Amino acid sequence: MLWSTSAVLLLAGTQTAFAKCKCTPTDDCWPSLSSWNSLNSSIDGRLIHNKPRAEACYPGQNYNAQACQEVAKEWGDQSVIALDPIGYSYPATPSCAPINTTLPSYPLCELGAAPAYSINATSATDVSAGVRFAKDNNVRLVIKNTGHDMVGRSQGYGSLSIWIKYIQTGLEFHQNFASADGCQPNWTGSAITVGGGYVWEDVYNFAAEHGHVVVGGDEKTVGAIGGYIQGGGHSPSSRYFGLGTDQVLEMTVVLASGEVATANACENPDLFKALRGGGGGTFGVVISAIIKAYPTKPMLMHSMAVIPIKATIANTINATANIMSKFAVLSDTGFSGYALMGDASMASASYPTSLYAHGFGMMIQDENNQDAIIAQAKALVEKEIVNDLLPYNGTEFLVTSTFETLPTFAEYYNAIGGQSTTGNTNIMLSSRMFGKESLENNAPKLNDMLHTVFSETDNGTLTTDKTMFLMNLVGGGAVLESQPHVSVNPAWRKTYVLNEIIAEWPFDLTSPEIKAFKDNVVYRKTDAMKALTPGMGAYINEHVGEDPNWKADFYGPSSNYDWLLSVKQKYDPEEVFWCWRCVGSEGWTQETDGQQYGPLCQIN
Ligand SMILES: Cc1cc2nc3c(=O)[nH]c(=O)nc-3n(C[C@H](O)[C@H](O)[C@H](O)COP(=O)(O)OP(=O)(O)OC[C@H]3O[C@@H](n4cnc5c(N)ncnc54)[C@H](O)[C@@H]3O)c2cc1C
Ligand SMILES: *[C@@H]1O[C@H](CO)[C@@H](O)[C@H](O)[C@H]1NC(C)=O
Ligand SMILES: *[C@@H]1O[C@H](CO)[C@@H](O)[C@H](O)[C@H]1NC(C)=O
Ligand SMILES: *[C@@H]1O[C@H](CO)[C@@H](O)[C@H](O)[C@H]1NC(C)=O
Ligand SMILES: *[C@@H]1O[C@H](CO)[C@@H](O)[C@H](O)[C@H]1NC(C)=O
Ligand SMILES: *[C@@H]1O[C@H](CO)[C@@H](O)[C@H](O)[C@H]1NC(C)=O
Ligand SMILES: *[C@@H]1O[C@H](CO)[C@@H](O)[C@H](O)[C@H]1NC(C)=O
Ligand SMILES: *[C@@H]1O[C@H](CO)[C@@H](O)[C@H](O)[C@H]1NC(C)=O
Repeated sequence: MLWSTSAVLLLAGTQTAFAKCKCTPTDDCWPSLSSWNSLNSSIDGRLIHNKPRAEACYPGQNYNAQACQEVAKEWGDQSVIALDPIGYSYPATPSCAPINTTLPSYPLCELGAAPAYSINATSATDVSAGVRFAKDNNVRLVIKNTGHDMVGRSQGYGSLSIWIKYIQTGLEFHQNFASADGCQPNWTGSAITVGGGYVWEDVYNFAAEHGHVVVGGDEKTVGAIGGYIQGGGHSPSSRYFGLGTDQVLEMTVVLASGEVATANACENPDLFKALRGGGGGTFGVVISAIIKAYPTKPMLMHSMAVIPIKATIANTINATANIMSKFAVLSDTGFSGYALMGDASMASASYPTSLYAHGFGMMIQDENNQDAIIAQAKALVEKEIVNDLLPYNGTEFLVTSTFETLPTFAEYYNAIGGQSTTGNTNIMLSSRMFGKESLENNAPKLNDMLHTVFSETDNGTLTTDKTMFLMNLVGGGAVLESQPHVSVNPAWRKTYVLNEIIAEWPFDLTSPEIKAFKDNVVYRKTDAMKALTPGMGAYINEHVGEDPNWKADFYGPSSNYDWLLSVKQKYDPEEVFWCWRCVGSEGWTQETDGQQYGPLCQIN
């Protein structure tokens, strides 16, 4: 009997039906110890029986005050998280936090949404063994790379996790790419093979050693071949070369059958297209990818801050709205980068809590005309955004504006990026793509939108406390050009800015209060962004899963989703892979029974 004996009674219309569930550790159908042991032997002892990270903080045989303090200190450190099979930047449940157990809200130390077992995979064989085991034993399967996902898609209660971090078959530079199977990539430039669980820091450094640039995350700790590249991937260099997923020439994938396949424009082209934008975690396990690389170029960098002196939040919002309304012009001139307004101490302790700031860059493609290009770009920035603020400099605001030329993209990246953020349980992020028409000449509406973002009720008091508005100027330019064999939400091809609300709720809220807080972001605040951007979308990798319109927001027109679903059904007919809001996820639900996690059951 494979199906879970704790099958849950579900109401489907007027009918009641027993749903099929994946087996969990408390079910009779859970694999026996000897089954797990034989899986372990088949993968050279690489199976890990997970324990909560902060177990040492809780009463019981593993209590250890000193170990607890160590865990507490490293709890949100991305580099520590990355080396832990159940390290997650945004744990889906706060079960077993490294805190004093006297706090009433965290009485238990359990794995929660973290997987029961992990395979510390180093090869395709390990991955295949795990996929087959999960399929044969009806065990929930998740794929984990860095664990950066914000809505828990690399987590799963009672699951077996395939952890790809230590698949590391090397990075390889190809001066002129040619596919091994003779497939015509329409690309004669350079490429890099990323053979496994490398993070962007590894790939950036490797590319720079060869004088090249790749399209990767703004932060170095993001994984290269997992959720980032499969969900879209915006970058400090996407303005010049397109999205991360646009760069992929070929992937090696372990399928739901356990077989290893090549996906490119010639072999399994439907899978290739689905993996390029359709999102991670659901089509197969990518174990290697070949991506385009570009010769590095000099960069002009513009850094600006508008720091309130006497200004109110309303004044800062006004300045921000005016600057944002010029973003499309700046992008068309060649600028891209990252801006923020609000509680910037959430991003870096060195910022005052409330301000507008940006770090923008422009790639100087034509080095022969460098001086003229720089002079023109500076004049444009001053005319469009700086001069308007000069009358208020020293009174309302302190306005800083500096330019710098850097000889390579790598030096620019190090100047703007590499700030490691810390993981967090009580944070949410909601995004929206903004096209040119929602920015240009639209300052008054952007102003109103920011009033909603920085207030808790309509026309309520403005506050930047624990709220940050990020303006990722990562679209425009090459992002606007559609690519063949890419299934990303087509709204990306009209996107100049990906705007994001980041909001953090206090640790001591009750469940209903957390729900109210989330609803306010999901509905009121996000709707204010949606109102200005009809027909656009949200970024699958950086958005609240609670969004009721997730399907259209993540995948675009229903024809795109339906096509992705047909690929999912073809390559994973038995639904071995599942993640929340991923393609094919709507047939299953997590039976939480008042808890925040529980068995994964099929909806009949
Ligand atoms: C600090 C930080 C900075 C970020 N910066 C950027 C940015 O600049 N640009 C941007 O576009 N996004 C950015 N993101 C979002 C990022 O793209 C997502 O969090 C993404 O899902 C991370 O992918 P991962 O593989 O590293 O993480 P994971 O949490 O390990 O995986 C994410 C999803 O991909 C699946 N997956 C992982 N590996 C594989 C694989 N090998 N095969 C198939 N599926 C897989 C997982 O099952 C899960 O569904 C950032 C996130 C964080 C936390
Ligand atoms: C798997 O085998 C290794 C090596 O024998 C062992 O150290 C490890 O504890 C085993 N894992 C599990 C889950 O039993
Ligand atoms: C728990 O609280 C005590 C007393 O306030 C403190 O000394 C200790 O460091 C705390 N432990 C942790 C893990 O935070
Ligand atoms: C995973 O495997 C790698 C490579 O063998 C090893 O270095 C690492 O310590 C392992 N990690 C865990 C948590 O077992
Ligand atoms: C190369 O271009 C041809 C013609 O436009 C197209 O049919 C083919 O799919 C392209 N191949 C790739 C890998 O994009
Ligand atoms: C704003 O005023 C400060 C202090 O007088 C000055 O240092 C700064 O350069 C001024 N900003 C701009 C953009 O001119
Ligand atoms: C923003 O400030 C400018 C300059 O003071 C002013 O002209 C404009 O009316 C303000 N806009 C809003 C929406 O408050
Ligand atoms: C809130 O402000 C909007 C304009 O931003 C206005 O139309 C509306 O009437 C105000 N509502 C209340 C209750 O004051």
